Amino acid sequence: MSARPQIGIIVGSTRPVRVGRPVADEIATLVEAAGGDAVMLDLAEIRLPLLDEALPPATGVRTQPHTIAWAEQIDALDGVVFVTPDYNSGYPAALKNAIDYLKAEWSGMPATIVSYGWAGGASAAAQLAAVLRYIGLELQGEGVQMPFEPADFDEARGMADPAAFVGRSVEALRAAVAQVVAASAQALVSA
Ligand SMILES: Cc1cc2nc3c(=O)[nH]c(=O)nc-3n(C[C@H](O)[C@H](O)[C@H](O)COP(=O)(O)O)c2cc1C
Repeated sequence: MSARPQIGIIVGSTRPVRVGRPVADEIATLVEAAGGDAVMLDLAEIRLPLLDEALPPATGVRTQPHTIAWAEQIDALDGVVFVTPDYNSGYPAALKNAIDYLKAEWSGMPATIVSYGWAGGASAAAQLAAVLRYIGLELQGEGVQMPFEPADFDEARGMADPAAFVGRSVEALRAAVAQVVAASAQALVSA
């Protein structure tokens, strides 16, 4: 029996109350259904400090325990789903920081981007795609953009029903996840 591809789900938002986590939880379910093992990598839990290595990541020299642990987590993956909000027409600083910590570990990794916001997080997704291509990830398909509607939010400006919001995009999420799982499984067979 072939090994199931390990698919990381990187949660790019770190706020105490987030839309990002319910989106990521649904993606985890879809990864398992598509034949992969979901590996939740929630940056709010991982809590990487701002990049504090003396040498650039391209040297491959990692000295800080948190860098070594993060490198091991990414190295163990076969594919990755990036989940990002749109903050001021870009993606969160915590996500850029997490990406910048590493270099070779990202190279050749099949990936997709799931973004959300009033315009589906399109600006964040475009910026993130440019960075991911630059460092050598292999983006699969167009990703998924999840647009908010006014009724998604209650009077306190919290998301009223995250499950309903995620549910509107579940077919697009299923298709994007299937692409990453398939590309990751293919890479495993070829390795
Ligand atoms: C710092 C900040 C900037 C934001 N800028 C935008 C924006 O440019 N476009 C947008 O559609 N939503 C913007 N929003 C609203 C977010 O899309 C919304 O708060 C969303 O829930 C954030 O994702 P999260 O809950 O996973 O952190 C912004 C929110 C924050 C906290």
